Amino acid sequence: MLEENINYQYITEFINQNTPDTTPFLAELEIYAKENFIPIINRETRRFLEMLLKLKQPKRILEIGTAIGYSSLVFEEATGALVDTIEIDDKAAGLALKNIQKAEKSEKITVYHGDALTVLKVLKQESYDAVFIDAAKGKYPEFFRLCFPLLKQGGLLICDNILYKGMVANEALIPRKKRALVHKLQRFIAYLMRHTNLTSSIVPIGDGLIVSIKRSATC
Ligand SMILES: C[S@@+](CC[C@H](N)C(=O)[O-])C[C@H]1O[C@@H](n2cnc3c(N)ncnc32)[C@H](O)[C@@H]1O
Repeated sequence: MLEENINYQYITEFINQNTPDTTPFLAELEIYAKENFIPIINRETRRFLEMLLKLKQPKRILEIGTAIGYSSLVFEEATGALVDTIEIDDKAAGLALKNIQKAEKSEKITVYHGDALTVLKVLKQESYDAVFIDAAKGKYPEFFRLCFPLLKQGGLLICDNILYKGMVANEALIPRKKRALVHKLQRFIAYLMRHTNLTSSIVPIGDGLIVSIKRSATC
């Protein structure tokens, strides 16, 4: 059976019950996203990313896929970093700007309104300590190709929804119309896991993350 979440529901519920709430404003955005069917990082993914980023202590974070600005605000809140985030959709970009203004974070979070495949080409090389890819899954290989030079050595790369409701790990779950996309994700995962300049790990949390570190001269 195809599940929204890749883990047993009782495990997810347990993790979520034990995960502290966000700020009241982020909680408002969570409700808005739920009511309007806007996919944002889920509770357990949010906590895990907060932790990873706090360990990394990034000064600058790049995000592909802003939606309403929820995860950008989470990242800024967790680290105090400057966040650059890219959103292709007009309505979502407008809402994100409004939410970021409301949270008084316009000086910390910059929303680039456009296709990441275009915007990424004009950003400065090796300027980000962490990159979060959370947009069209079919374009992950292209996003990665353009993001990799923007990430500093030792930088953190995180891609969300990598296990895509479990489909990437079980052919029997894949409906015919999703086959090409799922196979593309499988090839992307294999590519990252074998990339000689990355150390990567697949993390079965939320809809699945792949977390990679760009190799530096020392590791
Ligand atoms: C899953 S949502 C992002 C959720 C957000 N990261 C959060 O957790 O709050 C994915 C977003 O990526 C955007 N997107 C899809 N393709 C894109 C592209 N080529 N360039 C920029 N944004 C894109 C979609 O419009 C959508 O708002």
